[in-house]
Amino acid sequence: MTDFNTIILERKGRVGVITLNRPKALNALNSELMNEVVAAVADLEADNGIGAILITGSERAFAAGADIKEMQSKTYMDAYVEDFFTPWDRVAAARKPLIAAVSGYALGGGCELAMLCDFIIASDTAKFGQPEIKLGVIPGIGGSQRLTRAVGKAKAMELCLTGRNMDAEEAERAGLVARIVPAAELLDDALKTATTIAEMSLPIAMMAKEAVNRSFETTLAEGVRFERRVFHSTFATEDQKEGMTAFVEKRSAEFKHR
Ligand code: CAA
Repeated sequence: MTDFNTIILERKGRVGVITLNRPKALNALNSELMNEVVAAVADLEADNGIGAILITGSERAFAAGADIKEMQSKTYMDAYVEDFFTPWDRVAAARKPLIAAVSGYALGGGCELAMLCDFIIASDTAKFGQPEIKLGVIPGIGGSQRLTRAVGKAKAMELCLTGRNMDAEEAERAGLVARIVPAAELLDDALKTATTIAEMSLPIAMMAKEAVNRSFETTLAEGVRFERRVFHSTFATEDQKEGMTAFVEKRSAEFKHR
């Protein structure tokens, strides 16, 4: 799919950039937008010229949550039968590195979309929160789980129970975001970071991502064993030979499998 109504998909060098684009609704995540993001990620995953994916919104809003107007009249049966929100899991399952560049509101589903990326770069105007409780629901795209893993029980519980927002500084202190940058520099900075990643060996970046993600799924001993086996397997790649040879020869590595 190349024609999108609610997102803009661009290829900037080896980085695929998905810009959420429903400005009048502060990028609220309706079904069309969800399906388009899922399709765009699948498209970029299949594209050999792409080594990293950046998801961003506007300066005012990354996304102000799932679309409340679309959800308002849903019944339990609608939600259950359509398996409401489950397509987002396909974005979380992307194997290429996925970065969220967040400016303005990242609330509810917006915060959850940012958290299902591999890491978040936030502008100094970013606001994060899970305000679902004020609407009589709870997070539905993994917020109660990923926020808790990111910031710990006390703060996740407070945010989910009160619905209050965190500003960028609090989010950085709590470990939700990797870095804060001035709003005017967000896109350039995030694109530069994504490009740095996209210039690495793609299979090795995918292995690094898989190893870090494993830490959320298993015990420390199993996680270390998994890491060790994957580390061993890196020696079967041409890119390990190139990376180490380039170091010894005092030149930049030219990875083959990008
Ligand atoms: N769904 C649908 N429309 C939304 C929306 C949302 N989540 N958030 C904002 N909008 C719309 C508003 O309805 C408004 O549209 P109209 O002009 O047609 O009325 C437009 O975007 C601009 O919004 P505001 O006028 O409210 O802008 P503001 O600057 O005064 O406030 C805000 C900004 C604080 C983000 C406020 O819009 C707000 O509170 N939004 C809802 C946040 C929220 O509750 N998100 C969670 C949704 S539930 C969810 O996400 C479930 C889940 O787990 C996935």
